[in-house]
Amino acid sequence: MIDLHSHILPGIDDGARTMAMSIDMAIQTLECGVTHLVCTPHMHPGFFDNTPAIIETSFNELVLELRRQNIPLSLSYAAELRVSEHIPIWIKQNAVPFLGEVNGKKVMLLEMPHSHVPSGLEPLIKWLLRNNVQPLIAHPERNRELLREQHKFDWLHRLGCWFQVTAGALTGRFGEPVQEFALTMLASQRFHVVASDTHDTVRRPNDMGEAFAVVAALDEAYAQQTFVTMPSSIIGVN
Ligand SMILES: [Fe+2]
Repeated sequence: MIDLHSHILPGIDDGARTMAMSIDMAIQTLECGVTHLVCTPHMHPGFFDNTPAIIETSFNELVLELRRQNIPLSLSYAAELRVSEHIPIWIKQNAVPFLGEVNGKKVMLLEMPHSHVPSGLEPLIKWLLRNNVQPLIAHPERNRELLREQHKFDWLHRLGCWFQVTAGALTGRFGEPVQEFALTMLASQRFHVVASDTHDTVRRPNDMGEAFAVVAALDEAYAQQTFVTMPSSIIGVN
């Protein structure tokens, strides 16, 4: 499996705090059947002021340490961008680490606040699509406004967004309403990829193995598509 959302880089966001923790996360990620993991630290102005240079430095340190300890997890990096007015500026400055490219569009992992759908979202999505950027919305099933008003999920779909559902949402880690919403999306095949969004090995571990089983029990081909084929084609690895 290819996991394109994680907070495994040590000390630069609310994920791994130390290199030892990152290594434990890498081992757990391998154990659940993931062979390639994309490090996607938050870029969230005022909270996690990460830049491509900061991310790259931290990424190189983790790659070296994995090599030193002979841990065979393949890694690449991108970022999880919080919706903000900075995004178009960063894109123009070439300061956004994208996940990859599909059909000539660069794919960006875009995060809304958890409580609501921000008012500037529609113009931002339209701007991104016009500028050859495909927004992949992180964990729509955990947004409380979408959960309450699920027709807004259809609206985002019609606008052209892609969706990344969190593995733990499918297994019930975030409670029943979130699981039900994720399973509704599964029943209508409305998400594009599943990813772990792992932050640690205890509270937010990597749930990809268990989640794959949930999806495969209903539809083996869709599991293959959302855990392997689609994430592979987004990041350009096999
Ligand atoms: Fe995340």
